[in-house]
Formats: sequence, C-alpha cells, structure tokens
Amino acid sequence: MRSSYYYNLNFLLANRHWYIIKRHFTLKKIINIIKCISHFKMKHATVSSFPVYIKIETTDCCNLKCKNCHDGTVPRNNAFLDFNIYTNLIDHLSEYLLEVSLFDQGEPLLDPLIVDYVKYASSKNIGTVISTNFSIKLSNDKLVQLINSGLDYLQIAIDGVTQETYEKYRVGGKLDLVFSNLNRIISLKKQLKSKTPIIEWQMIDFEFNRSEQEQAKILAKKFKVDRFRLKPDCYSTYPMMSYLRKKRCFLLWFSFAVECDGLVSACLTKDDESLYVGDLNTDPIKEIWNSKKYQKLRDSHNHDMDERINPYYCKNCNRYDNNSQACHS
Ligand SMILES: C[S@@+](CC[C@H](N)C(=O)[O-])C[C@H]1O[C@@H](n2cnc3c(N)ncnc32)[C@H](O)[C@@H]1O
Ligand code: SF4
Ligand code: SF4
Repeated sequence: MRSSYYYNLNFLLANRHWYIIKRHFTLKKIINIIKCISHFKMKHATVSSFPVYIKIETTDCCNLKCKNCHDGTVPRNNAFLDFNIYTNLIDHLSEYLLEVSLFDQGEPLLDPLIVDYVKYASSKNIGTVISTNFSIKLSNDKLVQLINSGLDYLQIAIDGVTQETYEKYRVGGKLDLVFSNLNRIISLKKQLKSKTPIIEWQMIDFEFNRSEQEQAKILAKKFKVDRFRLKPDCYSTYPMMSYLRKKRCFLLWFSFAVECDGLVSACLTKDDESLYVGDLNTDPIKEIWNSKKYQKLRDSHNHDMDERINPYYCKNCNRYDNNSQACHS
C-alpha cells in the first residue's frame, strides 16, 4: 500500500502549490519544512518550526450568493481585515512562509487594498494566490496593477459556459463580465510580457454543469488560460458528522488561517469554534502558534479520535483522511 507521504507529495506536485512555492524556496525555508515534518512525525504538541502556508481572509464581503457560502446560511460580518495585523504577521513569519492564500469566505477583489496585500507578501519573497468569481467590473488599470503586483496564481471560478448554467450556483454572477475580464487579463499579461499570474479556470463539478464541462475545456484553451481544473463539490459533501477520523491531520503542524476579524483558526478549511486558537488583535502569532489551545488541539490528533473524549471538530472531519485531498481550495 502506498504511504500517505506518497499521496501528500503527489498532491503537492499535482495542484497549484508547486507552481507557487517553487519560485520562493530558500535554505531557511527548506530547513523549516524539515522541522515541521519531524515535529509532525514525532507527534510534538509544542514546535520550534513555523508555518509554511497561511490563508488570509482580507474580507468576507461578496457580490454573489453561492449555495452554502453567501446565501444567508453562514453568518457574515461584511468586514475587512486590519492591514496592520497582516503586515505584522508577515513580518514575523516571512523567513518561513512559502505561500499565502489571500481569500477564504469572501470575494478578495472587493477589497480595495488587495493589490497592496499581494505586493507586501511579494516584497518578502512569499508566494501569493487569489481565488475570485471575477464577476466584478474591473478596469484595465486594475488588471495591470494585479499583474504587476507579483501575484503568482489567479484562480477564476467559472462553473458553466452559458449564463443559465453558470448562475445556478454563482447566483448574481454575470458570465459576460467574467469572460470580458478573463480575455483582458490574458491579453494584458501578454502585452506586459509577464509570466505571472498563472491563470486557472476552476470549474466545480456539479451534476447540472456536466454537459458543459467539455465545452468549458475547449473554451479555456481558446482563451489561452494556463490551467483548467475540475474541482469536486466540497460544500455539499463535507462535513460528514457520522464519519470518525482515522489519521492525524498534518495541517496543524504546517499552517493556519486568519479571518477578517483577526481570529486565528488552526484549520484552513473549517471555521468551527473548537478550532480557534487565538486573536491577532491582542496576541502575537509566535505565542498563538504554541499556545495551550494549539498544543491541546495537536495533542488530540496524537491520541485516538474517540468521540467521547475528543472535543474538537477534527474528529468528524474527512479531509486529508483516506488520502482524499481534492477539496483543498
Ligand atoms: C469561498 S470562495 C472565496 C473566493 C472567491 N469568492 C471565489 O468564489 O473564487 C473559495 C474557494 O471555494 C470555491 N468553492 C465555492 N463553492 C464551492 C463548492 N461548492 N465546492 C468546492 N469549492 C467551492 C471557490 O470556487 C473558491 O475557489
Ligand atoms: S463568489 Fe466565492 S465567496 Fe462569493 S458566494 Fe461564491 S463562493 Fe462564496
Ligand atoms: S482534521 Fe479537518 S478540521 Fe481538523 S485541522 Fe484537519 S482539515 Fe481541519
């Protein structure tokens, strides 16, 4: 049987992370990764390594109402992260970070400071990625700023090739606008002779768009996007509360997420209260990273996932278990 390391490596090489991180390696970052792996393997709850990847939600505002996201079922603050919290965080972790994702549960291009977020990370040799619905009026000037910011990777969510199919999930989205932005950013990137950002057409695999997936691949080629990716519908299949986790999750030793109110979640993919490990409005990240709560959470993965004694969300989580990693955004 193949080991989970094989799958983790395979996962890394097959998805966007490799495109991003290969441009930002340093010796210090490699040593830090080795330390992360060894702390994970040795089941240490306190670590001397630092995160290699973080996710920053600069805003939770959105112009669309996709199902299970901004359709009113999940509470939103319509808030923007304090830029100083971000620069402070980056200053503390820049020697170790390979990649920063500048999105979570909102539309990053609605943040007027988004180009500054990217530029700040780029200036510290950290890779950056944005995922966007691109259904926003964007001037050529804004697109040029985005290209020149140093952004490594731009994921564009396009779940259909006709307005009728597209808006079944992307409620309020305008496909014409998405295609106009896509067309212009690709030609501007060419004019500027810029290799970045790598542009990905991300299509979520829904039953209702299966008949348009082949056309989407053809259209993506016509537009000359760099990558086309079909992604599973993760929101409707996850979480599975009847599921009992079997393996330890490596995320707790490698990464964390910051929400737009400054709260730190140990998990990149789930914002459950049991996963909150600190608040950047009051605590420095180096304290949070080895706080009592973080240690307890890591420790809970070192013992069994017995439902009766494990109070954390992780016990029912099927991500990164059974080698099912395709839902990572
Ligand atoms: C919540 S969105 C925020 C970024 C941006 N607003 C967007 O939609 O790209 C983060 C990522 O989740 C993806 N996503 C949204 N709904 C999804 C679903 N049902 N299954 C899998 N991924 C989904 C989006 O396409 C995006 O790449
Ligand atoms: S565009 Fe992105 S953030 Fe907005 S509702 Fe859809 S998935 Fe959520
Ligand atoms: S087990 Fe699931 S909920 Fe826990 S940190 Fe990993 S991905 Fe997040």
